Amino acid sequence: MIDNQIIEEIKSRNDIVDVISSYVGLKRAGSNMQGLCPFHSEKTPSFTVFTATQGYYCFGCGAGGDVINFVRQIENLEYIPALEFLAKRAGITLPDNMRKTEGGFDRNRFLNMNRDAARFFRECLFDENIGREAMAYLRRRELSVATIKRFGIGYSPDGFSALTKHMTNLGYTEEELIAGFLCGRSRKTGTLFDYFRNRVMFPIIDVSGNVIAFGGRVMDDSQPKYLNSSDTPVFKKSRNLFALNFARTSCADELLLCEGYMDVIALHAAGFSNSVATLGTAITPEQARIMSRYTKKVLISYDSDAAGQKAANRAIGILGEVGLDVRVLKIKDAKDPDEFIKKFGAEKFSELLSGSQGKFKYNMDSVLARHDISVPDEKIKACAELTAMIADIYSSAEREVYIGAVSSKLDIPKESIRSDIDRILKKKKREFKKQESQKIVRQSAGFGDRVNPDYAKNVAAAKAEESVLGMLVLYPEHRKAVADGKVNLSESDFFTEFGRRVFKVVFEIERSGAYDSGLLGEYFNPEEQGRIMRMQLARSQLSDNGSDVFAESVLSLKRETSAAVADASVDNILDIINDKRKNT
Ligand code: UTP
Ligand code: MN
Repeated sequence: MIDNQIIEEIKSRNDIVDVISSYVGLKRAGSNMQGLCPFHSEKTPSFTVFTATQGYYCFGCGAGGDVINFVRQIENLEYIPALEFLAKRAGITLPDNMRKTEGGFDRNRFLNMNRDAARFFRECLFDENIGREAMAYLRRRELSVATIKRFGIGYSPDGFSALTKHMTNLGYTEEELIAGFLCGRSRKTGTLFDYFRNRVMFPIIDVSGNVIAFGGRVMDDSQPKYLNSSDTPVFKKSRNLFALNFARTSCADELLLCEGYMDVIALHAAGFSNSVATLGTAITPEQARIMSRYTKKVLISYDSDAAGQKAANRAIGILGEVGLDVRVLKIKDAKDPDEFIKKFGAEKFSELLSGSQGKFKYNMDSVLARHDISVPDEKIKACAELTAMIADIYSSAEREVYIGAVSSKLDIPKESIRSDIDRILKKKKREFKKQESQKIVRQSAGFGDRVNPDYAKNVAAAKAEESVLGMLVLYPEHRKAVADGKVNLSESDFFTEFGRRVFKVVFEIERSGAYDSGLLGEYFNPEEQGRIMRMQLARSQLSDNGSDVFAESVLSLKRETSAAVADASVDNILDIINDKRKNT
């Protein structure tokens, strides 16, 4: 259990407006601040920061909480790392007992272990006997010593237990080394062995500068070419990007997304320090979201082979989904950015960047490549695909430009293309309206509620429950009344499972000291905390916060819950009767 004093200190030294302002442009709105929500795309601000209560809530997407939850959401961090992030920001040191990772490892020790391993690999690389071949390999690939040092590149010696011995001597346990994917255990003998052997080692470094994982490359043609750390207690490959620690400060304009570690390293060395790569997997929506926090535009520069182009097509969709402006770089006469730079130099790569094709032009080329437009049928198909693509574009000026391009490519008059597009747009509008109204109906009835799936089963009971919980969370006097037994309320009075959980946690925290929203992170994910924030907002708009209102709400909650339960039991009885009838 985390001490509420440290939470209070972290929160009081990290003003929510200060913290959020470094991610979101905020404008004063009455006594609060408003801006465009960083968690969903919107054109009018519904993201609100409450200065008095040091909370935030988006009326559009329901994200909300305190400054700790904000950092969890925006930096994609677990609870404790988010506390560490804010503690660091304010120059506070967290107590040792707060550093446990999932699996019960000490987070700090784990990160130190990775750093020690990285150091060991680097020393091996620079050791003239052990690392000679690896160093020669890297120099053959035209990496300067400065670049090797900047990226912390190393070498994992051949043999079986060089690293294991070194790390064991430093005091790391077998469990830690195995969980950190530095060592494996031999099935035959039960002894530990080095996971990476005879490979050039690339450390993966997070945005706070911690070594969190490794990728290791063979120096010949053997397989697998790369070995990567699997997920560990401090590393999720779907949530990290290679070299983002460097790129984050130089990617305001755009990020260059590559496939390979070697591409990124070559690009950084050539001055393109806004390059990143995924970690041996296809790009994930989480990685797309992370990129969208640092930049508005992503330039995909994947390998020029068919596999690379297919991957680029998929990446367009995933990046577009989070609102990023996506472009694809066509690399000519080289298989990847690394080779291109070696062959033609940084300046030519720069030219390639400025002439990079827009998403539409890229998609148009790929449609045209798939259809033989000298055949009428094929031409019609190609035209249909292209008009559908144009109809997806928001700006009408931009649509006009593409209509022109398609018209001249296919030799079809602009007017016909335009009228096709208008028809699609009209249909889309109708569908959108229908979907929106369905969404509103669903939401107001609580269907599809991921946080609280029980909500829809009885909206009246669920609403009563939220108002009681909102008041409990907001006012210490109500919590005290319940704790002292002055107001009779228990877990079983709540209708939904989520409500019961919130009640239970609030009183667990209350009993251990004092309630603070900053402690919720131990029990609830960021989305759930948004819901708890919503409960409070609804309540804080009440003018009377007196105990009468609270007692009254508790009564109505009990009434609604028992009515809901009674309904359910009537259903059950009917079911039983029906079953009996069928069986006789
Ligand atoms: P590439 O084969 O393009 O590697 O794979 P590269 O980084 O350009 O390396 P060089 O130029 O051949 O030395 C792209 C990325 O895919 C992952 C790695 O992250 C690599 O950087 N990969 C590739 C693996 O995880 N395992 C493999 O066996 C191969
Ligand atoms: Mn390569």
